[in-house]
Amino acid sequence: AAALFDSGALAGLRLVITAGPTREALDPVRYLSNHSSGKMGYALARAAAEAGAVTTLVSGPVHLDTPAHVRRVDVESARDMLDACQALVADCDIFIACAAVADYRPATVREQKIKKGGEHSSLKLIRNPDIVAAIANGTPRPFTVGFAAETQDVVDYARDKLQRKNLDLIVANDVSKADLGFASDENEVTAIWRDGASQLPRATKHNLARELVALIAERHASAGN
Ligand code: CTP
Ligand code: CA
Repeated sequence: AAALFDSGALAGLRLVITAGPTREALDPVRYLSNHSSGKMGYALARAAAEAGAVTTLVSGPVHLDTPAHVRRVDVESARDMLDACQALVADCDIFIACAAVADYRPATVREQKIKKGGEHSSLKLIRNPDIVAAIANGTPRPFTVGFAAETQDVVDYARDKLQRKNLDLIVANDVSKADLGFASDENEVTAIWRDGASQLPRATKHNLARELVALIAERHASAGN
C-alpha cells in the first residue's frame, strides 16, 4: 500500500478539503443549517489520500467516519471554517471547497435562549464570508476547486461562479434531480475550467471522487503549479 501512495497521482501534494454543512447559531440551543451529508467531500478526501496526497478535511457537523490517513479538523460556523482554512492554506497545494456553507447567519447570537412572543417573528440575517473566494484571491494561493449546486442553467451558473470566485476548476452539480446529490450515494457532475469541460456520468460518490481526483491532478499539473 505504501508504494501505491508514493506513486499516486497526487503523491507529495498537500490537499485541504471542506465538507459538510455549517451551523450558524441563533441562541445556545438553535441554529440555521442545511441537509448536506458531507459524503462527497469525505469521498474526495478518501480518494485524495489513496492517490498519495497529505489530506486534511475541514468538516462541518456530519455523521461520517474519518477516512483512513486523513487529518480532520472539526468546525461549526462558516467563520470558523474560514479561519481553519486560512490557517491551513499556508502549506497547501490544492484547496477543494465541497462544503455547503450557509450563505447567511443570524445578525446576532443571543446569549440566552430566545423566548416566544407574539404570533409572528422574523430573523435578521447577514452574509457569511465566501470561503473559496477568499482562498482563491489570497496569498499564497493554492490550485482552487469549487463546487456549484444548481437547479437550473447548471453549466452557465457554474461557469459564472468559476470566473467570479477566480477558481481553477468548478464541479457543477444539478441538485434538481431528486434521486441525486445531497443525501444520495450517487451523483453526476460536469467539471469546468477556463478552457475546457468534462462530463462525469452518474456513478457512486466514491467512484466519482476517484475520477475527480484524477482530473484535478491532471489540471493542477497542466496549470504548472
Ligand atoms: N462557498 C464557500 N463559502 C460560502 C459559500 C459558498 O466557500 N460562503 C463555496 C462552496 O463550498 C462551493 C462554492 O462556493 O464550492 C459554490 O457554492 P454555492 O452555494 O453553489 O454558490 P454561492 O456562491 O453561495 O451562490 P448561490 O448559493 O447564490 O448559488
Ligand atoms: Ca450558497
